[in-house]
Amino acid sequence: MQTADHDAQITASLNGVAYSSDYKNWKIISITDKYDGGSMRVVYANDIMVKAIKSGTIPFPDGAKIVKAVWGKQKPDAEGIVRPGNFQNVQFMVKDGKKYQQTEGWGFAKFDGFGLKAYGKTSLFDRTCINCHRLLVPENDFVFNIPTKNK
Ligand code: HEC
Repeated sequence: MQTADHDAQITASLNGVAYSSDYKNWKIISITDKYDGGSMRVVYANDIMVKAIKSGTIPFPDGAKIVKAVWGKQKPDAEGIVRPGNFQNVQFMVKDGKKYQQTEGWGFAKFDGFGLKAYGKTSLFDRTCINCHRLLVPENDFVFNIPTKNK
């Protein structure tokens, strides 16, 4: 079990988004399977995000957080069951309209591998994140994983 002490040893993302293992206590709102990329994902949302999803509050309020954790895949077993492989990365989107004005109010971060190394060579790495989210899901305040039945 990771602790706040452990979290503090993880270097924050260059755009200022800190790592926090607290997402493991949140609600799982979605799972996805990226067939071509060979990875499995679990998506967690904090209370503010869950409430906003339930009430259809878009854009999402400050304090809303959504996290996607990504694992590789093992080969299918004799029954055809595919289980997760190694942990690959964890990706954060944290809403703060003032702080992250350049990226539609979302603070993006990705922490790679078991060492949770912050992704990005400069603080501008987050523009590539928002560019794709902006292109594909502008109607959902740039969030893909919104359960279709959420009550
Ligand atoms: C080429 C397009 C693309 C880029 C670039 C991209 N994403 Fe995403 N992102 C997606 C798609 C598609 C999903 C939904 C599929 C899934 O969750 O497996 C997603 C989902 C997410 C989620 C879960 C919340 C949601 O929107 O459903 C987070 C968090 C996230 N991305 C963070 C990031 C971060 C951080 C970066 C930059 C380091 C990034 N993304 C770059 C396409 C992209």
